Amino acid sequence: MSDTLTVIDNRTGKKYELSISDGTIKALDLRQVKVNEADFGMMTYDPAFMNTAACKSRITYIDGDKGILRYRGYPIEQLAESSNFLETAYLILYGELPTRSQYDEWVQHITLHTMIQENIKTLMDGFHYNAHPMGMLISTVGALSTFYVDAKDIHDPESRRKQIHRLIAKMPTLAAFAYRHSVGRPYVYPDNNLSYTANFMSMLWKMTEPQFQANPILAKALDVLFILHADHEQNCSASAMRGIGSSHVDPYSAIAGAAAALYGPLHGGANEEVLHMLDAIGTKANVPAFIKEVKVGKGRLMGFGHRVYKNYDPRAKVIKRLADEVFEVTRRNPKLDIALELERIALEDEYFVKRKLYPNVDFYSGLIYQAMGFPVEMFPVLFSIPRTVGWIAQWEEMLNDPDQKIARPRQIYLGLGQREYVAMIKRS
Ligand code: CMC
Repeated sequence: MSDTLTVIDNRTGKKYELSISDGTIKALDLRQVKVNEADFGMMTYDPAFMNTAACKSRITYIDGDKGILRYRGYPIEQLAESSNFLETAYLILYGELPTRSQYDEWVQHITLHTMIQENIKTLMDGFHYNAHPMGMLISTVGALSTFYVDAKDIHDPESRRKQIHRLIAKMPTLAAFAYRHSVGRPYVYPDNNLSYTANFMSMLWKMTEPQFQANPILAKALDVLFILHADHEQNCSASAMRGIGSSHVDPYSAIAGAAAALYGPLHGGANEEVLHMLDAIGTKANVPAFIKEVKVGKGRLMGFGHRVYKNYDPRAKVIKRLADEVFEVTRRNPKLDIALELERIALEDEYFVKRKLYPNVDFYSGLIYQAMGFPVEMFPVLFSIPRTVGWIAQWEEMLNDPDQKIARPRQIYLGLGQREYVAMIKRS
């Protein structure tokens, strides 16, 4: 039996054979289903892309029912345990773990591009004293396109390679500068003798000491958090990256759009919302009343639920373990008790069980970030740094995919038909 789907149109009695490949039919094949020659042809209606594959990808695999996440075939748990962020970034971008010489060269390239143009500092200075650092990050990463005009050569692999190095290297610098501006402290330039996360911590927290000494356990924990956030296949911001990139704009402009998508509270802004929620709940004793409110539709349990995971988010499991290591260095975040109680009750409650709502990556990450000294406004910024790797990998794959064209969904028009313009004087 061939892999086809038979569609019978009861309006016309006609029968169509649609070929199936990789468990999907081509939406365009439905266009032949017409009532007459003048008919445009059948389309699918899928708001929020609940059941539409918009690309073929070889980067990240998720099995949402089983709670599996793999980058290029490697389980996230193994990468979190044994890899580091820059090695994982290489894997995500190039498909294989690097050899020693490839790794050294890669780290060298990233390290050499950590500085940003002085004019970016001037741009940062223009922001209001209490500007949200994510707004500053989005603006300044977009502004990088004005400094690197060669980035417009998106069809040149060498140019793309250079922008990749720049983006991965400069995101922590932009993020740290945004933070320093928000706390009214002078910017700290990158220290290329430090590791990726230790340098980031130095740019955030260095004061007058000659060299900032990051706590190695915290630097490692941040590195693991970066691995966990590096890619997550076709999520809202990755789709934004692909959609914007499909117009062949430069990657800095596309990343600004992807970061804007991430900023929203239903996506990367959720970790910030989790902390606001824990603050609002206040004490463990208030948890049952809060859950009750959520169940009657008064707000959501932030950090719970996922479009794809209908099981425990594997990243949340790693983060929960990581929290113990971090809290041994910092003091235990007192909000952890509220979070644990929320999780305990929610995992037993029929409302959450029936809807398969489990903690996602954002539920515990904020507690760690806060214990490390980050203000909540920095949480989505911290998500953007590693996710830049995923965005670029998705962008590269899109550009090299002969099936891809400029993204342009269809609509079902339900508005009025043609009518005649009415002069203002005649309108009632
Ligand atoms: N709290 C309470 N109810 C929820 C929640 C929640 N966090 N999430 C989903 N539901 C309910 C929802 O009300 C709906 O119930 P009903 O069937 O009675 O109408 C049902 O579960 C299905 O929800 P949905 O909104 O149709 O699911 P979705 O796939 O469109 O949304 C989500 C996924 C992540 C936006 C959603 O679960 C949510 O808003 N969670 C809270 C925000 C959050 O933590 N976001 C971070 C996601 S993970 C990091 C990332 O990738 O950015």
